[in-house]
Amino acid sequence: MLCIKVPLKQAEKIKKELIRNGLLDKEHMIARDSQFIYFPIKKKFPTEHKIVFKMVGKRKLQSDLKKVLESKLKPEELELLKRSMDVIGSIAIIEIPTLLEKKEKLIAEEVLKNNRNIKTVLKKGRHEGVFRTQKLEYLAGEKTKEAVCKENNVVIKLDVEKVYFSQRLSHERGRIASLVKKPEEVIVMFSGCGPYTCAIAKNTPAKYVTGVEINPEGHRYELQNILLNKLSSKAKACLGDVKDIMPKLEKKYDRIIMPLPKSAADYLDVALKYANKNAIIHFYDFQKEGDFEKSIEKIKKACKTAKRKCKILGIVKCGQSSPREFRICVDFEVI
Ligand SMILES: C[S@@+](CC[C@H](N)C(=O)[O-])C[C@H]1O[C@@H](n2cnc3c(N)ncnc32)[C@H](O)[C@@H]1O
Repeated sequence: MLCIKVPLKQAEKIKKELIRNGLLDKEHMIARDSQFIYFPIKKKFPTEHKIVFKMVGKRKLQSDLKKVLESKLKPEELELLKRSMDVIGSIAIIEIPTLLEKKEKLIAEEVLKNNRNIKTVLKKGRHEGVFRTQKLEYLAGEKTKEAVCKENNVVIKLDVEKVYFSQRLSHERGRIASLVKKPEEVIVMFSGCGPYTCAIAKNTPAKYVTGVEINPEGHRYELQNILLNKLSSKAKACLGDVKDIMPKLEKKYDRIIMPLPKSAADYLDVALKYANKNAIIHFYDFQKEGDFEKSIEKIKKACKTAKRKCKILGIVKCGQSSPREFRICVDFEVI
């Protein structure tokens, strides 16, 4: 996120100026350290202060569904309700338990009423198939499934039903982008509508970023998002299975991102084949707490088969897929 870095003493004055000029990004949190405060801003502008790229969290919307519906549902109905909802741009995706289906329209209308920024409410489905997409039923507001959202200093447009995307992972994408410090060749396997491709091309000194996506709709949006963010000179999108596309690209990479936690292990052989010496691979997996070693085993096994050595750099928890299961990212170097 673009932030203006201001000494603590000047914080109040600058904040007022930002609000007066409509420059403060109110959808993101303000960060601080011992000397400076970082105000998220909507765009660059001339100033005596430094403008920096900093990872800041999104401000919470009235996303606590139980709070929003306290006065509208009976206590036993409230019990059934899931607390959180997914928000992508101005679309909210809510989970409706079977026993509350009769009240789904009322629940959706309340979400609209309580969140100025939400224009459409859809009912959550299950992520399925190779494309990891979900069927989303319309509940309230504007009849659209196309969303535009901002994250990591880029604009991302997509159809939330036709393409997999989770804004909850924006912080993780920002983390990966923040690791790119040199003119690297980067490939994003399983790139979806391009949130990693665009964040890395826009915010880092990467030499070139290639996204590969098998879902034609995801690919269509990735192409659009590269154009929307004016990144065509530094990024491209390829349509197809990574196993077919990577050999055709005839390149090797310094950084390989594998955001397909359900089955990324099946593609480690391809990733290792096209990894330069000292390349960094970001391998996503689902794993229970205490079982993270199992992901490392998958990597070691694939490296052994590929006759490559690896050094594990770290493991990051970047989401929760069920009460006891996490989405993790293992960062490792190929030696
Ligand atoms: C979990 S989604 C992640 C999408 C994107 N990276 C993001 O963060 O929003 C995984 C994506 O991988 C794509 N995919 C699955 N198998 C693939 C394959 N063999 N080759 C290329 N893409 C694939 C799916 O269509 C889906 O869009």
